[in-house]
Amino acid sequence: MSSTQSDDQRKPAIVILDFGSQYSELIARRVRETEVYSLVLSYSTTAEDLRRLSPKGIILSGGPSSVYVDGAPRCDPQIWELGIPVLGVCYGMQLMVHQLGGKVEAAIGKAEYGKAPLQIDDPTELFTNVETNSTMWMSHGDSVLQLPDGFLSLAHTSNTPMAAIASQERKLYGVQFHPEVVHSKYGMSLIRNFVYHICGCDPDWTTNTFVEESIAQVRDQVGSKRVLLALSGGVDSSTLAFLLNRAIGEKLTCMFIDQGFMRKGEPEFLMELFKKKFHINVEYINARERFINKLSGIVDPEQKRKIIGTEFIRVFEEESVRLGPFDYLAQGTLYPDVIESAGTNVDPKTGERMAVKIKSHHNVGGLPKDLQFKLVEPLRRLFKDEVRKVGRLLGLPEEIVRRHPFPGPGLAIRIIGEVTHEKLNCLRDADLIVRQEILNAGLYPDVWQAFAVLLPIRSVGVMGDQRTYAWPIVLRCVSSEDGMTADWSRLPYDVLEKISNRIVNEVTGVNRVVLDITSKPPGTIEWE
Ligand code: XMP
Repeated sequence: MSSTQSDDQRKPAIVILDFGSQYSELIARRVRETEVYSLVLSYSTTAEDLRRLSPKGIILSGGPSSVYVDGAPRCDPQIWELGIPVLGVCYGMQLMVHQLGGKVEAAIGKAEYGKAPLQIDDPTELFTNVETNSTMWMSHGDSVLQLPDGFLSLAHTSNTPMAAIASQERKLYGVQFHPEVVHSKYGMSLIRNFVYHICGCDPDWTTNTFVEESIAQVRDQVGSKRVLLALSGGVDSSTLAFLLNRAIGEKLTCMFIDQGFMRKGEPEFLMELFKKKFHINVEYINARERFINKLSGIVDPEQKRKIIGTEFIRVFEEESVRLGPFDYLAQGTLYPDVIESAGTNVDPKTGERMAVKIKSHHNVGGLPKDLQFKLVEPLRRLFKDEVRKVGRLLGLPEEIVRRHPFPGPGLAIRIIGEVTHEKLNCLRDADLIVRQEILNAGLYPDVWQAFAVLLPIRSVGVMGDQRTYAWPIVLRCVSSEDGMTADWSRLPYDVLEKISNRIVNEVTGVNRVVLDITSKPPGTIEWE
């Protein structure tokens, strides 16, 4: 790797053309798990753009449409003539068949959703080391009825005679199932066969090379100029701080704004870690009173969020003037923030679709778009799981790498209604108990989030001989893949009992603990 090679110059070895499947990003992540760099581009990317980008392989994603209806997304037909191997997945395979002269029809009475054993008829190439009769994940209402000229069927299921197809001569392949989902037992073997053996990719996308490349790129970009980073303590901004510290050391200034709504001990822990242990240049800004004063008398959740966001920007601006001047602002933008589903806005240099320049970063309250900074965004090629790997490699402690998501406005939105010092203290104590007991029970890695919510109503209880009239705490604990949907976690009764006992006994102002058993949808994860 040349030391001046920038991330933007790294071309994708595999391009995924997105036809609107919920799994398009997952395909890209799976390819990257084989240490091969992949990007997701719009289905409308032209053959000419692809030729310029010269990937070693193209994967066509699934999608919700039927290829034979008007307005269904189609790819540039010249793509079949590029000589680049193509793997069509589900809709992608049907499109290949449809555009090359075969026939796709509704699989009336033969639709398949869920796991299906796959019978392999040709165990070579795509199916090397894939066991016949193994489970693959199916999700299709249409099926291939007739293959285009030159194609063969490679595998079938009981409902789908042509579950995998190929024109080996033209290096065009299709699978009706989804190799990218975990339920497809040998899905990764199939992806490996495609990227390594059919496309001839090299495994060169590793955490080490990413770190090397991006350090070189940041040094190139920034030179001897100064960079400002708003550090929240989440995994993205923390990884970014570690990476930039390696790249530019003292030229980096991290600003940690304590708005007063963090978890118990969190600001102290972060300062100790960044400043004392890792000698990263961090400015601690104590803005606690400013924020809580602004929230006095405010009960509407949206208004609370707006006030916190606006105040964050004010503090950020004031402090950046005081600590500045800075030329660059570093942001923890990730690849999913850059991928755009409509995808017409293509970067002429890399062929990659471009999205918003400044991430509407709810963690830092959303920075204004007219800030006079140039941006440094070295994580913008990474998925979240890749950020964790990079963080780990750079020495970020597991506590931060594995940290549950935490909203930017913090505990302020987990207090329903007005935020006061008394309620904040109460919620902080309850939240700490939840965290400790979930950790003690070894459940922390299995749950997406576990936290306490304070409801500003009082009910009657009894403690000793005393009648109490105090607040309830809601325990919210969910499992989720991405926060978009979630289910409530079935915590063991003894863990629930411990949490409840400890909160009621140890937290002043609380006499009751209730459990939220609502999934998302229809509920949300946070209360507010
Ligand atoms: P909801 O409550 O909408 O939350 O189901 C979905 C996920 O988003 C997190 N969340 C936030 N994350 N800044 C963040 O970085 C925020 O302002 C914010 N609000 C909600 C929430 O914790 C959950 O994981």
